[in-house]
This record gives sequence, structure tokens and C-alpha cells, in this order.
Amino acid sequence: MLFTRVTGSTNEWAKELARLGASEGTITISETQTHGYGRNMRKWVSPNGGLWFSLILRPELRPREAQKLAFVAGLAVAEVLYELYGLRTETKWPNDVLVNGRKICGILSEMCTYGDKTSFVIVGIGVNASFDPGVLPKLIRPVVTTLKNELGRSIQLEQLLKALLEKLETLYNLFIKKGFNPILREWKIHATFLRKMVEVSDQCKSMCGLAWDIDQEGALILKLHDGTLKRFIAGSVSTCKSEV
Ligand code: BTN
Repeated sequence: MLFTRVTGSTNEWAKELARLGASEGTITISETQTHGYGRNMRKWVSPNGGLWFSLILRPELRPREAQKLAFVAGLAVAEVLYELYGLRTETKWPNDVLVNGRKICGILSEMCTYGDKTSFVIVGIGVNASFDPGVLPKLIRPVVTTLKNELGRSIQLEQLLKALLEKLETLYNLFIKKGFNPILREWKIHATFLRKMVEVSDQCKSMCGLAWDIDQEGALILKLHDGTLKRFIAGSVSTCKSEV
């Protein structure tokens, strides 16, 4: 485990190490990140008190399978937040964990592949842990929460990290041995957005419909008002603004 006080991004750091041959299980962790980022290269604000870390994995899986590791990480966070703090979390497609509708954790999995093989996967996890949401930019405050805010007290980052790493190991082994089904089944139990009207946006368009299911590939199936099913392999989900 490699720890520092400040780095640009633990994902970038982990990627550098992985390219140099770092083994599976190597972890980069930093107290703060100056250039933390999320999906679509969105800035991820990473103040002191958060848990910002990245894990190097080298699964012997095809890239199509390896990309499902983000679900493994989301489920690990959801289960640990319940087991340690009794928090009921929601998993939101594709890879967020929410409490009371606000984001408490973001997951960014990045892959390096060659042909049909996976060289390594970096699973980056950011938990808004022991800081006040007030330190975050005003614009994102309404959609974000922290463990400190939900619990009304500070938490021990070391305890959270240890529990998360143990859970990740357990669920990763389950995924490798038994495949995606048991992971997806549990993930869906937390997926309160399913069977609700949502708006799905990807790079090109946004569409409202009923969040119907998540399929075996981790894609979101949306049921449109005319009953047709539309499949999304990437994008983000929000509350539907227009009536359908
Ligand atoms: C998202 O919600 O878009 C994903 C956010 C992922 C943030 C974590 S914090 C640790 C790791 N380092 C990064 O730069 N990003 C991830």
C-alpha cells in the first residue's frame, strides 16, 4: 500500500505503477488530490478527510468482463457502509453510491487492454467520508453528502479503508469464481432507481423512460412510453424532468 499526503490523482499514480509492472493488489492512497477526476474527465473535488484510493487488479478476464468490476466496487461500498455505520445506501447505474439521494461515493474504473486481453484495471474509489459538505463548491453541494454529514460525527478512515479492502477482496474472488450474476443480484437489491421513471443521458442524447433492468453486460435497459426497450452501455441516470 502506497500512501501520500498529496497527489494529482490516485488513479493516475496507480496507472503509472501498473505500467511499470506493479502487481495485483497494489493500492495508492492520498489524503488529498489536486487533480482527482471522475467519469467523462469530470473534476472530483478531494479535500482532506475523504477516502481517496485506487487499486490495481490484473484479472484474467476479457475486457468486456473486466469492466464489470465497477459493480463489484459499488457493491463493496454499499455493504460496508451498512455493516460499519448502519447506512442504507442506493446503488445508481453505472457506478455511484448514494445516501438519501445524494452521492457519497464515486467509482472510476479504467482499463488497459491488449487485443482481447486485460493487462490491468485500476479501480478508483472516492468516499466522501469525514468532512463537511460545506467545503465543497456550492454548485455540487445539493447533490453530494458525506459520512460525517449523515452520521453527525467524524469517522475513522483507517477502519473504513480496512473494511473496504476486505470486502473488495471477498467480492472480487466471488466475481472471479462465480461470475457476474451473484454480484449483479446483490447490486440490484440496492438499486432503488430500478422500476422508476428516469432520464438517461449519454454523450449524444438524453431520454426518459422506466429504468427496466440491468442486463448481464451491466447495460441499463430503459422501457420507453411505447413499450420498446432501449439499451445503454454508458451514460448517467437522473430524475426524469419531463412527463412521459
Ligand atoms: C465519478 O463519480 O465520476 C467517479 C469518481 C471517482 C473518484 C475517485 S477518488 C480516487 C480515484 N482517483 C481519482 O482521480 N478518481 C478516483
